[in-house]
Amino acid sequence: MPPAEPLLLCALSGRALAQSARAAGLAPCVLDRFGDLDTRAAAAAMAVVPPGRRRPFARSALLRAAAALAPAPVPLVWGGGLDGAPDLLAALARGRELLGNRPETVRKITDPFAFAATCRRLGVPVPEVCRELPEPRDGWLVKRRGGSGGGHVRDAREVPALATGDYAQRRVAGVPVSVLLLGDGRYCLPLLVSEQWATGTPPRFTGVLAPARLDGRLVARLGEAGGAVGRAFGLVGLASADFLVDGAAFHLLEVNARPGASLEAAEAALGASLLGLHVAACRGRLPASPPRPRPGAFATAIVWAPHDLIVPEGFAWPDWAGDRTPPGTRVRAGQPLATVRAMAATGAAARLLLAERGRRLVAAMAPCPTTS
Ligand SMILES: Nc1ncnc2c1ncn2[C@@H]1O[C@H](COP(=O)(O)OP(=O)(O)O)[C@@H](O)[C@H]1O
Ligand SMILES: [Mg+2]
Repeated sequence: MPPAEPLLLCALSGRALAQSARAAGLAPCVLDRFGDLDTRAAAAAMAVVPPGRRRPFARSALLRAAAALAPAPVPLVWGGGLDGAPDLLAALARGRELLGNRPETVRKITDPFAFAATCRRLGVPVPEVCRELPEPRDGWLVKRRGGSGGGHVRDAREVPALATGDYAQRRVAGVPVSVLLLGDGRYCLPLLVSEQWATGTPPRFTGVLAPARLDGRLVARLGEAGGAVGRAFGLVGLASADFLVDGAAFHLLEVNARPGASLEAAEAALGASLLGLHVAACRGRLPASPPRPRPGAFATAIVWAPHDLIVPEGFAWPDWAGDRTPPGTRVRAGQPLATVRAMAATGAAARLLLAERGRRLVAAMAPCPTTS
């Protein structure tokens, strides 16, 4: 067998991407913020990168770690965290094959005004956007360009002034549904539609259920809308189109031009290595017959620590837990402890199982002496 092709993989959490890369026979060198046990196990090499002041990664630490771990021309795959930092993405990609969307594409697609204009031209409904704080502010949200994870979405009435990169968007009704896309720059295929949910205040992205419990016609319309927008921006590889769905009506909120949070649940539902499909699509090859969802419901959820806690030494992680925080790490209230996965006959059963598994993990952790 030829040696596995090395890849540089950079994302806030690289674990699901790294495991998917391994399943495709690739050798991922991972840069992420957590250095979880299962990320290290899947990675050919790994380094943890600290956050920057206003960015998910400290620029010089990220570039230094990339050069040390997997110097150019090792190809780059990027994930969550870099959408809001196209300049950093460009620096990271220098001298490498970029297996993913280019910084120019990211700049365009994360520009809320250009994005809304493109969607309207294609007949895809989007919420109204505004460069200033509208008066009255009722019914408006403030969001940050390139933001992710939901933490940047605020009620406009609670925002005194817009900061650089902030914009206002009209609040629309609906539940979050995401379409996983795969593009080769000319065509953009919808692979799967998943449900997503958030928890906490402010609401933060928490879980994914695949496939979504929606009727087939609506699934097809969402897939067409997401695919049309993906094609208009010339997207390559995996991407996700985030919608709010209200009965038979929907609005497209954004398209994340990179593999995203639904990767693991989608991969379980589709039974194929999505990173393998991603790399092939970035190199111009779309599958002749895209994988179809298997019967059953597949779900993942982030377990946010409800209070400060510590992972006990020697903790035996159950096989349904991922993003395994190393023992001895102090996880602060509101920080991610792990991700739980579940598979069941129905979506409701899968979500119940996730909740129970999340509770079991938290109960097995050691409490943390409170410090003031
Ligand atoms: N215009 C809106 N109207 C109502 N809810 C919204 C709107 N925009 C965002 N949200 C809420 O915030 C969540 C995240 O929004 P999104 O635009 O996908 O941001 P992120 O990039 O952080 O994922 C949505 O799933 C939804 O619950
Ligand atoms: Mg989103």
